[in-house]
Amino acid sequence: MRSKVLSVGSAVPDTILTNKDLEKYLDTTDEWITTRTGIKKRHVFPPGKEAWAYELGAAASLKALKKASMAPADVDCVICATFTPDYFFPSTACKIQHAIGCTNAFAFDLSAACAGFVYALTVVDGLITSGKCKTAIVVGAEVISKTLDWNDRSTAILFGDAAAAVVLQAVPESDGSGILSTFLKSDGSLGKILYIPAWGEKRTMSMNGGEVFKHAVRMMADATCRVIDKAGLTREQIDLLIPHQANIRIMKAISQNLGLDKEKLITNVDKYGNTSSASIPLALEDAWLQGKVKKGTVAALTSLGGGVTVGSAIIRF
Ligand code: ACO
Repeated sequence: MRSKVLSVGSAVPDTILTNKDLEKYLDTTDEWITTRTGIKKRHVFPPGKEAWAYELGAAASLKALKKASMAPADVDCVICATFTPDYFFPSTACKIQHAIGCTNAFAFDLSAACAGFVYALTVVDGLITSGKCKTAIVVGAEVISKTLDWNDRSTAILFGDAAAAVVLQAVPESDGSGILSTFLKSDGSLGKILYIPAWGEKRTMSMNGGEVFKHAVRMMADATCRVIDKAGLTREQIDLLIPHQANIRIMKAISQNLGLDKEKLITNVDKYGNTSSASIPLALEDAWLQGKVKKGTVAALTSLGGGVTVGSAIIRF
């Protein structure tokens, strides 16, 4: 069997924070943020307002189910990738499962920071191809605004809140579509370049941007080459490159390293900023809405997150 991606759905908070809004109180400019990152705006929960990752995740999952013409009861597994869970427990996935009525599903969270979506996709692929489940939701849900020091210009400009979900189903290999290959790698020795302590006084994000940048380009390009090889494909056969939406310069560098045509690169970091585990399905949804995802389209997904964690996958739609 293969794991076929049937649909994608997303949800973001209503409030939009533009670079111009940040200019008003931070020592930064729209020009600096745009040229260094490609980000123009992001959706965030306003400070002091109730903000639940599971509510975003539930809304995104319901939209994905509707597009797949499926009922919540059809789902037998819900995995939520998040580094901003609402509770240590219950998991955000259990909250989503209950909120949308996936009464026949087991549910759990997966922590791999910005690579969380590809990690969760890989786990679900293993569950589906080994017959442990048939229909699954993989959702990335993040309220990153809660983890930022809004006076730290090196991180406050980069992130947004969002959730995005895909519905997957077991199909016979003869269908031709599905997840063709995956690759995961972690390097704990790089844990200090990007982290948030769980305990203690300072529980906001710390980041060495230059180091993250350097490793992201190298490791995401390498992981993408590996999944292309594993799938028995050539680079020319990749129709879409959907990288984790961290920074337009990182994404362009990966695309150039791989020698892919510019128009194959899918980006929407300008509209949403870096939404961590939600970013790849959020970009996939944009590509789908633009008509770029058709039967037979081959997409390469690639991501890097705190840990560090690296993950890539090839999907044929
Ligand atoms: N506004 C204006 N100036 C700034 C800002 C800001 N928001 N932030 C930093 N600067 C200044 C710095 O202080 C520095 O000034 P100096 O030359 O006087 O010392 C100058 O701009 C250059 O700073 P750099 O850190 O060298 O800028 P760089 O080009 O590396 O861009 C950035 C920084 C955007 C953070 C980049 O390194 C990056 O995107 N890194 C990847 C980080 C990332 O994506 N993290 C997300 C999590 S992991 C992931 O998702 C892959």
